[in-house]
Amino acid sequence: MKKSPKQRLLITGASGFLGWNLCRAATAAGWSVIGAVNRNRIKLPEGAESARTDLCDWDGMKELLDFARPSAVIHAAALADPNSCAREPDASRRVNLEASVNLAGLCADAAVPLVFVSTDLVFDGRGGAPYAESAGPNPICLYGEHKMLAEYGMRERWPSVTLCRMPLMFGEPGPAAKSFVQPMLAALREGREIRLFTDEFRTPVSGRDAAAGLLLALKHPGLLLHLGGRERLSRFEMGRLLAQTSGLPETLLVKSRQADVAMPAARPPDVSLDSRRAWDLGYNPAPVEAELSALLKG
Ligand SMILES: NC(=O)c1ccc[n+]([C@@H]2O[C@H](COP(=O)([O-])OP(=O)(O)OC[C@H]3O[C@@H](n4cnc5c(N)ncnc54)[C@H](OP(=O)(O)O)[C@@H]3O)[C@@H](O)[C@H]2O)c1
Repeated sequence: MKKSPKQRLLITGASGFLGWNLCRAATAAGWSVIGAVNRNRIKLPEGAESARTDLCDWDGMKELLDFARPSAVIHAAALADPNSCAREPDASRRVNLEASVNLAGLCADAAVPLVFVSTDLVFDGRGGAPYAESAGPNPICLYGEHKMLAEYGMRERWPSVTLCRMPLMFGEPGPAAKSFVQPMLAALREGREIRLFTDEFRTPVSGRDAAAGLLLALKHPGLLLHLGGRERLSRFEMGRLLAQTSGLPETLLVKSRQADVAMPAARPPDVSLDSRRAWDLGYNPAPVEAELSALLKG
């Protein structure tokens, strides 16, 4: 979408890992950013204004929209941990499904462009990867199911919503949220072993590339986009790249398989995304190794 310097972007989940990276990218791109936070009342990156709202509270969400008067919205807030969603199914339904559909309704009423941050976990990962946008979702965990139902419900309420399925993301942490690489780095630095799956594959991207992709998605109302990276990596391969890039000992990485670990949420083996549609539109995620190097240089 065409943007003047005064245009206002509302980002939900601004205190989260992705939201924080999005606030930084959007302010740098000239947006006037309002970042919605909930429990973590953090100071947002320079140039972003924060607003506190529980998106499960309809009145609160309406007040947020009235206050922000956004030119566009990126909805990144979620209960994003599949195991927590399995343990707290009602909370997952309220946040990941109902609040998302309600937000789409409010954006439809005000004719405000909306980008929804969905997930590669809408796929079962049991054959068919890499998944293009034409592939049928078939989630095997509640988190993926609620995200899929949110995609359907939001599209019904606001046909212009842009649906973006994200891969596994890593990168710079915010004050209240980190990506999966920070605990891995801490373990390697402290000389602790890390067990990593050799049979679970994703197409990871950095938070800053993901943010760039979501800002690009604002220009494409009504599209369904996969914003995956260009490499299909197992968790173990991701760990090896991190060890190599940081110069920390690879010997601390222990090969493991999904079946070795019991978890509340089922884990798909391979939800790699085919993201050529987005790449053709100009989405250009960097190689994982390059983004890890940039992260380590700080
Ligand atoms: N991380 C990944 O690898 C990954 C992969 C695929 C898709 N995604 C999707 O990407 C998005 C961001 O994920 P993330 O990893 O950045 O998540 P995160 O770090 O856990 O952040 C979640 C954000 O959602 C907010 N939130 C949760 N419940 C809320 C509520 N009731 N009202 C208002 N805000 C609420 C949190 O606010 P407070 O902290 O202030 O409470 C926080 O800002 C999510 O939609 C997730 O499903 C993530």
